[in-house]
Amino acid sequence: MEVKFGSAPVPERIIQECLHRSEGYDLEGFLLGQGAIPATIMFVGEAPGATEIVEGRPFTGQAGKVLEGYLDKLGLTRQDIYISSAVRSRPFKDKVVSGTSSGTVQRISRSNRTPTKNEVRAHAAILDAEIEYVDPQIIVPLGNIGLHRLIGSHETISSLHGKVIEGPIQRLKDPEDPQSSYIFGERSYSIFPLYHPAAVIYNRSLEQVIDRDLTALKDFLTAKNNL
Ligand code: URA
Repeated sequence: MEVKFGSAPVPERIIQECLHRSEGYDLEGFLLGQGAIPATIMFVGEAPGATEIVEGRPFTGQAGKVLEGYLDKLGLTRQDIYISSAVRSRPFKDKVVSGTSSGTVQRISRSNRTPTKNEVRAHAAILDAEIEYVDPQIIVPLGNIGLHRLIGSHETISSLHGKVIEGPIQRLKDPEDPQSSYIFGERSYSIFPLYHPAAVIYNRSLEQVIDRDLTALKDFLTAKNNL
């Protein structure tokens, strides 16, 4: 089978509808996921940050460097996998850091923030379409946002990281309805949650845990390849 590298061919109609549903939220930029199509393994992160929306490629900022460390340990490259996320624009928040509204010129500092449930839902049809095109067998949610988008929010990454869950994933029940709930599809995937690469930047004590999880994932991938 021919394997291409790039972004899944998500129909323009779906992208435009998701952008329309994002109106009114503090989101900027837009980029699709990227990687091998089809791919056996798909990583699902949270949302792009400041660097990603400029570069137009997922995980090119600080968290991207950590993700590349994950891939090195797994013996994989970006050419082997597909990388996407729950939201495909950058959620931001602005803060006035100097000046006053009446006097001097204000300076605003813009930072990344965690996407809300509504923002995840607004972009859900894009991830659903990417999963359909990429057709992975193994899905690696990176952090709680990706995990909750795929299996619901009854469990957290701190209880599920480093373990395989065999089961279905959620998709939008009615893609035409902006308020649609999610339903579980019929197909079963091997879901292997990992801590989001940004987590280790803020909490160095996670390094060893992540290392163990990557070893477990590597063993799992080897066993699966030998089946
Ligand atoms: N975090 C994500 O989840 N995706 C990116 O592309 C960058 C950071």
